[in-house]
Amino acid sequence: MKPRPIIFDTDPGIDDAAAITIAIRNPQLDVKLLSTVGANVEVEKTTLNALKLTEFLEVDVPVAKGCSAPLLKELEPCPEVHGKTGMDGFAFPPVTKAPLEKHAVEAMREIIMASEEKVTLVVIGTHTNIAILFRLYPEVKERIAEIVTMGGGLCGGNTNSSAEFNIYNDPHAAAIVFGSGVPITMLGLHVTRKALLHRAAAERIDQASPAGHMLYSLFVHYRGGSLASGLMIHDACAVAYLLRPALFQTEMMSIEIATEGIAAGTTVSDYRAVKNGEKTANVNVCVDVDAAGFETWFLEEFCKTAGERP
Ligand code: RIB
Ligand code: CA
Repeated sequence: MKPRPIIFDTDPGIDDAAAITIAIRNPQLDVKLLSTVGANVEVEKTTLNALKLTEFLEVDVPVAKGCSAPLLKELEPCPEVHGKTGMDGFAFPPVTKAPLEKHAVEAMREIIMASEEKVTLVVIGTHTNIAILFRLYPEVKERIAEIVTMGGGLCGGNTNSSAEFNIYNDPHAAAIVFGSGVPITMLGLHVTRKALLHRAAAERIDQASPAGHMLYSLFVHYRGGSLASGLMIHDACAVAYLLRPALFQTEMMSIEIATEGIAAGTTVSDYRAVKNGEKTANVNVCVDVDAAGFETWFLEEFCKTAGERP
């Protein structure tokens, strides 16, 4: 079976690093591009981190630098979660390559329009690049198989009590993307907070391969949970959905994004309006996850038979 062509739009970010590492090493996926955005840390750092990952993993996947700031609001990075570099904890070898000259939006458009097969966008940062892509080049929409995004949630936030970080940091862009008509699957905090990686599994990955050791070294510094209580590898859930969709229960919902006021960045499921036929369900929402199955899958991605990439 031909590998599925995907583009990551990402803000590495330690959980982004886990998602990207798994996807790049899995033969079922063909990672065409890492497009970066400023979110966890500034875009200069997320771009450097994307280059660190592609070089360390010894893959020829292009990196394109994207937007440095949200469409309207100021960026509010979170170095307290991922460290000042955005990927604290592992001494990557010096980067020798540069990102593409062209902007991430241009790079995405070229790859999407040139691809024989429809491309899947895996959006694991803010939606700024994707919103601008759709505004500048709406013709790409019909060439996109699906957007699979880690963002939002149905039961509270992590940036405040209501909004999740990726949506909070650019609610206007998220509103454009969620309202675009492109098929979208949402992995929100209500499932990503359940899909934990515990110390025993993390220590096995550390022993499994150089890539596993790299991720373990990052996990020790990651403040999305803890090795003691379980790490929330939010973005890896997007890759788990692509590779093991049976781990998730899903439900079509009407999801709208609050863009102004105290609750800006909240993803709202108007289930009553859908029930009354007043609104249509526009988003495939993952509503639950087999947490044990997720951790087993995560381990299998690193503890397979020999012959794996380094
Ligand atoms: O809320 C979690 C999300 O915000 C993840 O994508 C993490 O990397 C941060 O970007
Ligand atoms: Ca991210």
